[in-house]
Amino acid sequence: MIEEKKIDEKRQGEILSIRSKSKTLATKKMYLESYGCAMNFSDSEIVASILQDEGYSTTKEIENADIVLINTCSIREKAEQTVRRRLKNFLKIKRKKPELTIGILGCMAERLKTKFLEQEKIVDLVVGPDAYRELPKLIKELEDGRKAVNVILSTEETYADVIPVRLGNNKVTAFISIMRGCDNMCSFCVVPFTRGRERSRDPLSIVNEIQNVYENGYKEVTLLGQNVDSYLWNNGLSKKEINKLPLQNQKNNINFAKLLELSAKKCPNIRIRFSTSHPQDMGDDVLYTMAKYKNICKYIHLPVQSGSSRILKLMNRGYSRDWYIDRIDAIKRIIPNCGISMDIITGFCSETDFDHNQTLSLMNYVKYDFGYMFKYSERPNTLAQRKYKDDVDEKIKSKRLTEIITLQQKHSLHNNKKHVGSIKEVLVEGYSKKSKDFLYGRTTQNTVAVFPKEDIKIGDLVNIKINDCTSATLLGNKY
Ligand code: SAH
Ligand code: SF4
Ligand code: F3S
Repeated sequence: MIEEKKIDEKRQGEILSIRSKSKTLATKKMYLESYGCAMNFSDSEIVASILQDEGYSTTKEIENADIVLINTCSIREKAEQTVRRRLKNFLKIKRKKPELTIGILGCMAERLKTKFLEQEKIVDLVVGPDAYRELPKLIKELEDGRKAVNVILSTEETYADVIPVRLGNNKVTAFISIMRGCDNMCSFCVVPFTRGRERSRDPLSIVNEIQNVYENGYKEVTLLGQNVDSYLWNNGLSKKEINKLPLQNQKNNINFAKLLELSAKKCPNIRIRFSTSHPQDMGDDVLYTMAKYKNICKYIHLPVQSGSSRILKLMNRGYSRDWYIDRIDAIKRIIPNCGISMDIITGFCSETDFDHNQTLSLMNYVKYDFGYMFKYSERPNTLAQRKYKDDVDEKIKSKRLTEIITLQQKHSLHNNKKHVGSIKEVLVEGYSKKSKDFLYGRTTQNTVAVFPKEDIKIGDLVNIKINDCTSATLLGNKY
């Protein structure tokens, strides 16, 4: 989902402040911290909305909070360790202020359930991703002296009617969830266990939300799902029920290509991105729709995980190396100049040097614009954990990861250099990290550009002449 990864890992630990809709109602203060993928950040905005209606305002100061909520990620062991370290800090605060409520939300809550209360004694509340509507009730239970847990996964919950409280740092880009859960069961992945079955959200509520953020001044939305190409809607029926319908009734189906088209037409002045595409399900219809509408960004995040068909099979990804290459060729044919990025896992069970070289050669074929690369981290109860041995030595995993990262940097630089001398349309998102005299934004291909501020404002769509670049950034000035 999620442009998980860099944007989000960069934002890991970021403290999000929540503004209350109604200050008069607000009697208690809440502090919310989010980890993991964009879906989790988007969920935090739903949580903020639900608690705002209960009279909670927000604070950036933990010390002032009545309740601290951590929205957690389980994707790799390291992500969980980060949360546990953070909990140790909260323990110190709770010693001084025993009445402080500490709640765990998100994927670790779902994975560990009541174990959390046993292992981390300072935790009062454990609430999984499909149970956020229950938060007010659970908080009340706490007030009656009982620790509260709700981790029941749903087959229907999409929070379609909850208007999220926008927590992001800029007022330019917003996340909008279009589906929840995942049915893919990749053998390495914990998400199907923490997020439950895949379900799509009513397209009308999605399009209305896009319209709403546009009216509130936002310039770009990212539609989120673990596998957006699998989006399917027909009158609220489940995918199984839809597939059983007579063909003539399936004409009313709204798939992802149709949803994109509806969104692009209804809001022609907002830029639309989406994440994550899945190679198994990404059809040409999505690519043609992207090519047709100027406001759909020309960027696809298409995780490959491995370049070896043998490893892809063990990963249960549902496609082979050849299939993936065919999808890349289709992107390049239908949307020339489309930005392409990937996720790769290195050192998966039984991966040999040959498999690893297959990954490197695939990277050389595609020449990704950028990527998110990880060492395989075994997750409890996944198929890989139950069936295969995590047998690639840690040192070899690291060596292979370094090789992959080095190659990717070379490709990123190569691709960025091609833009030098050209003029790129950039949506300005904020100040550059290094200096307030510079701003940064993104091209349609999702490449970051940095340029002098001059008279440019955050939220502007400006033409930037690219003069130079690094492997990560284009450098230029207003044209
Ligand atoms: N739904 C998205 C991925 C979501 S998880 C998709 O299928 O593409 C984001 C990324 O984390 C994955 O693409 C994968 O590269 C990585 N990841 C997931 N489980 C992992 C594990 N057990 N160890 C290492 N990386 C993992
Ligand atoms: Fe995990 Fe695979 Fe689903 Fe992505 S598609 S969330 S990697 S199970
Ligand atoms: Fe996202 Fe992490 Fe859960 S990547 S879906 S928060 S395990």
